[in-house]
Amino acid sequence: MSNRLLVFYGSYRSDRMGIRLAQFVVDGFRARGDDVAFIDAKAVGLPILDRMYKEYPKGAAPAALEQLAGQIRDADGFVFITGEYNWGVQPGLKNLTDHFLEEWFWRPAAIASYSAGRFAGARAATAWHGTLSEMGMVVVSSTIAAGPIAQTLSPEGKPIGEAGKALERSFPRFADDLIWWVEAAREQRARRKPPY
Ligand SMILES: Cc1cc2nc3c(=O)[nH]c(=O)nc-3n(C[C@H](O)[C@H](O)[C@H](O)COP(=O)(O)O)c2cc1C
Repeated sequence: MSNRLLVFYGSYRSDRMGIRLAQFVVDGFRARGDDVAFIDAKAVGLPILDRMYKEYPKGAAPAALEQLAGQIRDADGFVFITGEYNWGVQPGLKNLTDHFLEEWFWRPAAIASYSAGRFAGARAATAWHGTLSEMGMVVVSSTIAAGPIAQTLSPEGKPIGEAGKALERSFPRFADDLIWWVEAAREQRARRKPPY
């Protein structure tokens, strides 16, 4: 059975670099045969949070929210591409995720971080770990990290140089970890309805 994955990315900057890592991750899972949809928060364009999806009367949520809620509910697992702004998370992606809660429950998530520097967004990745757990996802322990991103991936998301090779080497374990939990969670959801 092919695994339905959503890959999220949330920089709104005109000259954004994280799109390279998003492309690398999307390509990597597609090459393994997974069914991957890319969710670009900038393209979705949600306003700063006013009402969460669940706070709208049934059928009254804006179309973009309604569509995204369906995609999140139908997914088997998630990947978050996380850059780092001032040791914290990027607001565009955080804003998108905060629109939902129960829609995220009972599925695993993996974090792929990057930055302009050698820490590769590690501090943002740590912040996301707690946030995603709070939102009902099981966060897998394997991560990948690209930094400095400009010296790791080409504009097309292809690995370059020694840093690119290291990223490429780390991808199979990252993907295997997420997909193991994707399968485990899917089987458990089929076996027993989530308790809430
Ligand atoms: C507002 C802002 C804050 C930043 N803070 C950090 C930081 O704390 N740590 C870091 O490694 N890089 C930091 N950077 C550099 C980013 O890692 C780099 O610009 C990266 O490309 C941002 O992701 P994006 O291009 O996908 O928006 C910051 C960049 C911006 C624009």
